[in-house]
Amino acid sequence: MKTLTVALPGREYDILIERGLLAQTGERVRAVLPRASKIAVVTDTNVGPLYYNRVKAGLESAGFETALFTIPAGEESKNAVQLAQLWEDFMGFGLTRTDAVVALGGGVVGDLAGFGAATVLRGVGLVQIPTTLLAQVDSSVGGKVAVDLKAGKNLAGAFYQPKLVLMDPDVLDTLTDRTFSDGMAEVIKYGCIWDKGFFDFLCAHPSRREIMEHIEHVLYICCDIKRQVVMEDERDTGLRMILNFGHTVGHAYERLGNYETWTHGQAVAAGMFTAMQIGVGLGITQDDDFQPFLALLKAFDLPDHIAIDNCTLEGVDDWNLVVETVGLDKKSAGDSITMIFLEKMGKALPVKMKKDDVLDNLGAVYGRN
Ligand SMILES: NC(=O)c1ccc[n+]([C@@H]2O[C@H](COP(=O)([O-])OP(=O)(O)OC[C@H]3O[C@@H](n4cnc5c(N)ncnc54)[C@H](O)[C@@H]3O)[C@@H](O)[C@H]2O)c1
Repeated sequence: MKTLTVALPGREYDILIERGLLAQTGERVRAVLPRASKIAVVTDTNVGPLYYNRVKAGLESAGFETALFTIPAGEESKNAVQLAQLWEDFMGFGLTRTDAVVALGGGVVGDLAGFGAATVLRGVGLVQIPTTLLAQVDSSVGGKVAVDLKAGKNLAGAFYQPKLVLMDPDVLDTLTDRTFSDGMAEVIKYGCIWDKGFFDFLCAHPSRREIMEHIEHVLYICCDIKRQVVMEDERDTGLRMILNFGHTVGHAYERLGNYETWTHGQAVAAGMFTAMQIGVGLGITQDDDFQPFLALLKAFDLPDHIAIDNCTLEGVDDWNLVVETVGLDKKSAGDSITMIFLEKMGKALPVKMKKDDVLDNLGAVYGRN
């Protein structure tokens, strides 16, 4: 088994990675929650039928009383109504402060159930059992939990670290190719921002089958990078911003497609390439041989470019929407924004820029000025 420890003062926890680990859920959860008696398992309508019985059997054999709470699958469930329902469900089940919530699912379940665990009774135990590639390499580690508001994604939330992250790569076998590829966008991001050797490894294994042959290694490297970044900057005021590589423009692409036309992974993939092109234009990115990167995106059916003249939102000017979204980005302050560029493959460089300069350079990529 591969183990990584997220060493935050007073809130240290392990990330366990092993094929078949779901079978050890009971003993592993018991080890971090010696006094708990009730576990509320939150999952969604796709994941529950596939994996809940195994998790429940494990938890019950370790002496926990369990209850299942299932949300409809999809981002639409990550809202305040579902959150309030979970609070009621947890209290109806009789959860106390020594008990815990298990989030069994992708990033939507992890973020929603995690926020529920952070807030009910001012905080109960939380165990993340991520079941998508994105959740395993990204959302289950680092303690950001949230729901979406009408004004935007993840706008109400907290920093709340789990007691344990339990990762069984075998559950990835039931993902669609699209969901697997979306996770690969984040996997590729880690190579770009932190580890050229890992990027080269990915280039040498350009298919789902090959990645799955080495999945424990892939998860370990990605979680190790995220762990190091989070340990240095838990609250996202410095280094953690580099995890947003490709996301500033990516968010604009997602919004252009009304969160339907392009998935998060597709938008981030194209956003990373846009950031590389802007970086070259500004003389920040030294290496402009992007062929291996582009080949990798193609291998996982991820786009390197998203046209911004076919917005699906009626009556909305595409370019203005991009401009507005970039301006709204949470890394922006006043008329400045911290953009994440690559100095070279494997090394991210945050650069504080005037928003107008960012938009001029973005316009240059799109031939808009
Ligand atoms: N907290 C963080 O730091 C962080 C980081 C990145 C993303 N996120 C959030 O994560 C969310 C996206 O997560 P996601 O991509 O996992 O989406 P998701 O949770 O919606 O899962 C994608 C789809 O896969 C299904 N699914 C999940 N596991 C499965 C399995 N093993 N087999 C078959 N189907 C399965 C789900 O039911 C869903 O339909 C977004 O809300 C995003 O904001 C959070």
